[in-house]
Formats: sequence, structure tokens, C-alpha cells
Amino acid sequence: MSKEMLEDKLHVLLPQWLIQDKNILDLGSCMGAAGQWALHHGAASYTGVELQKEYAAQSQKLLTPWKNRAHIYQQDIRSFIKEKNEDSYDVILMAGVIYLFVDPKNIIDEICRVAKETIVIETTYPQIIRNGKLPPSALITEYTHRQEVNLPDGKESLLGICATSSLRALDLMFSLNGFGKNEPTLEFPKTRHMLNYSNENISDSKIPLRLAVRYVKDDSKKLSSLEDNLPDKKGFRRSWENDPLSKKRTVERNKISQQFGMETGSWKFDEEVAKNFSTIAKREIPDYQRVIDKTVEVVNKCGFRNPKIIDIGSATGETLKRLHNEGYRNLFGVDNSQKMLDRSFKKATLICSEEFPVAHGPFDVIIANWVLHFIHQREQYLQEIKHSLNQDGIFILTEKLTSSPLSYSLYDDFKRNSGMTDNEIFKKYTQLKNVLTPRSLLWYLDTFKKTGFGFVDIINANSMFVTFLIQKNKRIKAQRV
Ligand SMILES: C[S@@+](CC[C@H](N)C(=O)[O-])C[C@H]1O[C@@H](n2cnc3c(N)ncnc32)[C@H](O)[C@@H]1O
Repeated sequence: MSKEMLEDKLHVLLPQWLIQDKNILDLGSCMGAAGQWALHHGAASYTGVELQKEYAAQSQKLLTPWKNRAHIYQQDIRSFIKEKNEDSYDVILMAGVIYLFVDPKNIIDEICRVAKETIVIETTYPQIIRNGKLPPSALITEYTHRQEVNLPDGKESLLGICATSSLRALDLMFSLNGFGKNEPTLEFPKTRHMLNYSNENISDSKIPLRLAVRYVKDDSKKLSSLEDNLPDKKGFRRSWENDPLSKKRTVERNKISQQFGMETGSWKFDEEVAKNFSTIAKREIPDYQRVIDKTVEVVNKCGFRNPKIIDIGSATGETLKRLHNEGYRNLFGVDNSQKMLDRSFKKATLICSEEFPVAHGPFDVIIANWVLHFIHQREQYLQEIKHSLNQDGIFILTEKLTSSPLSYSLYDDFKRNSGMTDNEIFKKYTQLKNVLTPRSLLWYLDTFKKTGFGFVDIINANSMFVTFLIQKNKRIKAQRV
């Protein structure tokens, strides 16, 4: 940068009237040129902060004649400011520096804290404004991977991730700290060197590369953020009453609800569900086939002789069919939906009942996969199961549990991956509300204990679904199968 260019620039950034008898802090001071200028024009002191060793050493040397009115710190700006008290410097200059930080708001908060009167910023417009994709009035901070900073050898620059804020974004961040402007921007003179400096001669963009702006402390103009306002519910409010947008949304939501027949809690195992049950189960129940496989495998391992087996919520009899294929013949299915039973595998005693069919017991094996969560009197149902199990009987139970939002989201992903749309997922969620009532894992473990079951294992778990293997009294040794 030529001497003339530097002088034109400093004349605008640090005019004599601004710096007379003031303490100046120059953040990112490079060779300390602003120090020579400021002290020469009557500043009381000049402090430069520069991270690059070569620049700091060079500026220290050049400023030696000013003795203790000039100080150079080879330090990073963030740690330097952190150590300073409020109002430590009258005027702070940040030229060609603010866009080197990744978090402009944070650094602006800090410099506003230590500035007593004025902060002068010289920076560039975000690229997206320069290339005309956004207007100069855009309120944005642009992140880039390729911001450059010059290295002292004069041949290279270093590239990295940084953020460049638009003028309006800077105004906003300063006003949150009680700093305002008296003029929109600082005007550089249209001299030949300054036109080159701000790229006006060499670039296609109508927007100059660089801009300078001066913020002056004025607490009366201080704005507050939502974060500041929320605790005391201060600030601007918008009423939803008579709000056209909110009305439009309500109308649209109602339309969607009607379209999908989305009455809360409307889920039923009716004719339509019975007809499509196999598809629904595979699409909506994680590990549907795997849990049925495991159920059959566990029964095989128990080594019962002609066990009496009941499947609760036997639906279309998928599990009963699998057990029949394995050679089991003493099979019972119970379901409270006649529509499901009508479409069931038939080679079992099928009972249509809301309650556990105690009169048909006792059983060696009781299976309740994906059904107990539909039963509201769950404790009582579990007591009846316990009561209806033979001494060495087993109970296999799969339930949907109450889960964390993360686990919910895994379950939603599963449904999306099996081809359900977000609307279908939402519709099903609404329909199942208060019909399928999951409880927590702890609730189950506690209830098993209270009911008096002997041993509990988890034999499968996926997203929000868990399969328990429960033994009434003693641990059964696995038989070779
Ligand atoms: C998700 S399906 C179960 C799937 C089945 N266990 C399988 O392995 O394919 C739930 C079944 O439980 C039945 N159900 C719901 N509440 C019931 C109750 N109180 N008693 C018996 N069956 C019930 C439903 O009719 C439905 O067939």
C-alpha cells in the first residue's frame, strides 16, 4: 500500500478531531502505520495489537521514537481484549480485521465493552452482495472457507474459515451494545490511489470491495435481543388474533386433518387394517419378522413337550402359523378384533375377547407381541398372565416404550425408510394417540417385579420397541434344538 493511499485512508478513519488527546487502540495493527499517524496528529497514546511476529517487531522498531506513548503487543486480539477493563480506550480501530473472525457478534461485544467513545471499522462487503445476488441492504453474515490474510513475506496469504457481515448486520450487532452511527458510512476521497484500494477501478462489481464505518457510544439507541427480552417478556409483541397468516395456517391445518380423517385416537383394527395388516406391520414395526423368528426360536429352546401356547393380539396369526410350521399343535390365539380373526391363520383355537381368556389356561407359553400397549388396564392383564402361566412357563412380551425425542426420531427414520411419507407418519401418530399408550422401561421392570415374575431378559430392542423374555419362577436351561 503506497504512502499516499495510507494517508488518504487514515485521514478518513482517524481524523485529527477524533483522536486529539485520545487513547487509541488499533486491533490488527500490522506495521503500526496508524500509530505514526495518530501520534503525529495529537493522540495521547497508541496501542497496537498484532499477532504476526514479524509485523509486531517491525512496528515496535518504527514506533520507538514515540517512546512510552506507543505500545505494541504481539498477541491475539481475543485474549488481549478479554484482559481489559470496560472503557479502557477512547477510540478503537479495527481495519481489515473483523472479517477474520468466525464469530463477529462475540468479538463485537468484547470491543464494545472496552471502547469508551468510538469504534472505527474498516471491512469488506460480503461476496454475495458484491456479486449482486443480494442487495447491499441485506442483513446477513456470510461464512466462507476462503478468507485470505496476508503473510509478512509479501508473497503469500493464508486462507481459512471466517465470517463477513453486511453493513446492516454490523449496525445491528453494534446497536445491541449501545453503539450507533452519525453517518451511513465513511466516504473515502475519489483519488486515484483510493479507487484502486477499494477495487473500484479493477472489479466488475458495482459495490466497492471495502467500506468504513464509525460507531459512537449512545446508550439511548441501544437495542435488545430476544434473548435479553424473554426472561421479563419485554419488547414488541404480535397478536395472533386477526392475524391473516395465522388464520391461513389454521384453515390449512384443518383442511389437512379432514383430508386424512385425522381425528385423534381414531385407530381401529378394522376390516381395512385386517386386509392390509401384513404390509402395515412390516412397514411400521421395527424388527417385525426378526421378533417373530426369535419368539419361535425361544419356544424351541425351552424343550417343552407339546406345550400349550397362547398368542395374545394374535391378529392375522403370523406367529401361530410359524409355530404350527415348527410342529406345535396346542395353539390358542386371542384378539379383540373379530375382523382380524376373520383373516387369521385358522389352525389354532381362536378366541375373540377383550380380556385374557383365563378359563382356557394354564399355558406353558404366553406371547404378547405389540399388543399390551393397547391395553389400558395393563397391571391387571399382567397379573392374569402370571396367574395363567405354568410354574416353568415363559412369557414373551414386545412393547413400544416411552422414549427420548432422539429415539422417536430413529423410529420416524425407520418408517420413512420403509416408504412412509411425513404426512402418513403424522396421521398415524394422531390416530394412535391415547389408543396406543406406551410406558417407560422402568415402569415395565417395576411392574414385572410387583407382579411377581421371576426373571426378566431383554432379547431384542430397536428404536422404541423392546422384547422381554420373562420366566415365571425358575431359569429354564436352553435345550439343544
Ligand atoms: C399390532 S397387532 C399385533 C401383531 C401380532 N401380535 C403379530 O405378531 O402379528 C395388535 C393386535 O392386538 C389386538 N388387540 C388390541 N387390544 C386387544 C385386547 N385388549 N385383547 C386382545 N387383542 C387386542 C388388535 O386387534 C391387533 O390385532
